[in-house]
Amino acid sequence: MINASASINRRFKNPFREHLFLSGIHAPMTEELLLEALPVTGELPATLTGTYARIGPNPYKVDPRGHHWFVGDGMVHGIRISNGQPQWYRNRFIKSQALERQGGPKAACGPRRGGRDTVNTNVLKLAGKTLALVESGPFPFELDEYLDTKESAHFNGGLSAPFSAHPHEDPKTGEWHAVTYEPESPNTVWHVAISPDGQVLSERKIPVQDGPSIHECGITDDYVIVFDLPVTFSLSAVAQGFNFPYRWNKEHTARVGLLPRRGEVEDIIWCDVDPCYLFHVANTFQNSDGSVTIDCCAYETMFAHGPDGPNGDPCGFERWHVDPATKQVTRTTTDRAPQEFPRIDERFFGQPYRHAWVVSQPGETVSNFVAENTLFHYDMETGQKKTHHFGQGMVGGEFIFVPESATAEEAKGWLMGLVINMENDTTELQFFDALAIERGPTGIIHLPHRVPPGFHGNWIPD
Ligand SMILES: [Fe+2]
Repeated sequence: MINASASINRRFKNPFREHLFLSGIHAPMTEELLLEALPVTGELPATLTGTYARIGPNPYKVDPRGHHWFVGDGMVHGIRISNGQPQWYRNRFIKSQALERQGGPKAACGPRRGGRDTVNTNVLKLAGKTLALVESGPFPFELDEYLDTKESAHFNGGLSAPFSAHPHEDPKTGEWHAVTYEPESPNTVWHVAISPDGQVLSERKIPVQDGPSIHECGITDDYVIVFDLPVTFSLSAVAQGFNFPYRWNKEHTARVGLLPRRGEVEDIIWCDVDPCYLFHVANTFQNSDGSVTIDCCAYETMFAHGPDGPNGDPCGFERWHVDPATKQVTRTTTDRAPQEFPRIDERFFGQPYRHAWVVSQPGETVSNFVAENTLFHYDMETGQKKTHHFGQGMVGGEFIFVPESATAEEAKGWLMGLVINMENDTTELQFFDALAIERGPTGIIHLPHRVPPGFHGNWIPD
């Protein structure tokens, strides 16, 4: 019944409407390319060998009716680097059944979960496999070294719960932790733990209400952090034919859960927080008094102002203090500047740390989420902020940190990320000395086309 209403209501929407996430800078690529002989400006780190991979939505067939940026077919972009020299650029659709149904290439093999298999949000290496990931239910896909989709990935058949685009590795144990959800189960979210060799260790059910959308989690030595915030499943959005069924819900109580990693789910400590939303944490860690610190990019609301993409009132980079004794969360502003995609030296995830890198975001006046912007570096110990403005018409996405070596001290290494030149529709993979971003990029790999803005990437070392 709902599906029938959704289908009818979608059909009555305007198929010719200009959709801000399907046009301009967001217009999808139509071809899968292989480019060699990539021009370089400056110098790339000489010891780097591996692939920078980044994924995002890239609808195979453009249809604005009911479309939302977050639901587009996945496309992964990769730049292979060997001893500091670029070898190739490739972009590949994630070979989902959803793509094949639209007339796209043949779907990759392997089982699917829940009848949905569009994967577009993160790509990372987990237990030796390169995985493309999405939240809200579908299995990940495993990619080969050329970024072609090999098969669906379900951790050797061990995964029955939904998975997340943001599992986090505990650098102390090598275990991965994710908080996951699916629209079909509004009263449950899961904590999924994966062993360092890719076996599902546990899938623990956590009772919730209203079907909260939980994009991210945090970990500390003792807790997994559950962000139960007021963006929840909306049956009415589904019935109206919108493909992304989550909306701001002011009736839903905002709370942060401290789930004991080694205890019972019943012992979760729920702490009240002002109504707000976050997609991403930079880091989370425990303090000596047992309280928890969360550094994140927060919004006063999210998905309250229209159905096409993320929209909200960004409140900048925040530090949250979670007190399990009083069960309260205190929010303080580190920097009011609107920003997104916080990243750190991941060897310090879940631990006290010092350095975070984030890119500025245009805020609520820009409706397509991206604009000319600036890279930020925060020294959380001294409070110093360094910046690098990408330049006129230059739009930077997420920047990731790669350590100089496995034993290098925190933040000793490079940042890398894609920057779109809106003036000539080209893209650069820019490299920075992570501790000296104010000096500008040390090296740039030039791509002759626009890589549409996407979500997350990672360095996949050999
Ligand atoms: Fe994300």
